[in-house]
Amino acid sequence: MSTFFDANRPTVSHIEQQLKELKTNDLPWKSGKVLAYVYEPDPVAYALIQKAYMMFLTENGLDPTAFSSLLKMEQDVIDIAINLMNGDEECAGNFTFGGTESIMLAIKTARDYNRDKNPNIKKPNIVLPVTAHAAFFKACHYLDVETKVIPVDEKNFTPKILNYQKSIDENTILLVGSSPSYAHGVIDPIEEIAALAKEKNLLCHVDACVGGMYLPFAKKLGYDIPAFDFSVEGVTSISMDFHKYGYTAKGASCILHKRKELRKYQLYTCSEWSGYSIVNPTVLSSKTGGSLAACWANLNYMGFVGFQNIVEGTQAAKTKVEKAISENDYLNLLGTPIMNMIAFSSNKIDLFALVAKMKELGWYIQLQFKHGISPTNIHLSINRANVEHIDTFIKDLLFSVNELSNNTIDSSLPFPTEFLDNLTPEMVQQLKSGLGISDGEAPGDLTLVNRILDAASPEIRDMILKEFVNGLFR
Ligand SMILES: Cc1ncc(COP(=O)(O)O)c(C=O)c1O
Repeated sequence: MSTFFDANRPTVSHIEQQLKELKTNDLPWKSGKVLAYVYEPDPVAYALIQKAYMMFLTENGLDPTAFSSLLKMEQDVIDIAINLMNGDEECAGNFTFGGTESIMLAIKTARDYNRDKNPNIKKPNIVLPVTAHAAFFKACHYLDVETKVIPVDEKNFTPKILNYQKSIDENTILLVGSSPSYAHGVIDPIEEIAALAKEKNLLCHVDACVGGMYLPFAKKLGYDIPAFDFSVEGVTSISMDFHKYGYTAKGASCILHKRKELRKYQLYTCSEWSGYSIVNPTVLSSKTGGSLAACWANLNYMGFVGFQNIVEGTQAAKTKVEKAISENDYLNLLGTPIMNMIAFSSNKIDLFALVAKMKELGWYIQLQFKHGISPTNIHLSINRANVEHIDTFIKDLLFSVNELSNNTIDSSLPFPTEFLDNLTPEMVQQLKSGLGISDGEAPGDLTLVNRILDAASPEIRDMILKEFVNGLFR
């Protein structure tokens, strides 16, 4: 167990060296061969982001009156976001630390607005498609709001408005749509969802965490993007992230509201304790000014045209990848992805083996487990840094698919399926070492673990994940 070792403290350079060494087993994102997790800006923007972050590292976003610099930068960033989302002077918003926080605030706003306006609602619920990001489920879990999950179409991976209609009841407070959803990169029918919300006098949230900093630029380039923002009658809030396709440092998203009056329900105040006064617009209280300053600097440096140029490149790369997948007999493209996020499945080759093969060739591609009508699949998020490598990517992908095409799909588990259905936490603990998992260490090859997770029911999958991760962290 590590502890302070004051008698023989390492030097600064030794610590720096250790930090570098700690990175050795991380995903090598600088290779441009990682198609998830990382959104790498160009080198000039990257240097600016680092500088701006460091300049405001210590400033505290806890109190907007103490650091007026942060208030000004937040106002500017939110103005840009509102503009991109076709909002007006009535709109309001706040900078948050991520998409999950923005979504949590959208749910809190809906819950507290309804507590005020519809006090008869005792057990509030939201209606959302099964493709909505897990952050909604997490927010509802934290905020004691129910989720009414509706299915999506097998072909398009989008929900039918009829299913929203069927699910709404007297306790519904919010309808949710994604623009686009992360998993399949498809856009829900926002105009219809928002119209229904308006008709039923409900709030309507659009999750544009990945689309907000992408679709406006794609639209300007002439791509056919359906309306999804505040130009759509009935949309009352939007979440959009800067730390994804805004290519800024992590800790950068926002929550936007159609009317300032709605934002009041997002705020939290506490005058019931003996310390300083608390008025938090967001979930976090003390927070670095770094990510806000980095975001502000990057947005100003890039300008509309800078992002448009990136989108031009990633859209062209996406079209190439989409074509290669669609034309391949072993792969099935899922839905009609509108932006640079693609998912494909296969009932002819082993996708777990494909992930491993691509890893050997230096690529990181993301496995998504089966759920409902969505089969086991591979997700690709094509970001700016991948564009120059895209032809090699396609070549390596097709090569790997071809290599695997002679193998049969290995869906065997180290135990019978009935055993999986009856797994208990104690049994998972016993299984760990056989799976090459030791507490406290990031596992190397996850192929077998992934096969087990994919085969498990959602409940058993959640339980296994909790057992693993509880062991992983101290
Ligand atoms: C559509 C969508 N919503 C919400 C989130 C959650 O964002 P974060 O990871 O920043 O909390 C993501 C993350 O990928 C996303 O794709």
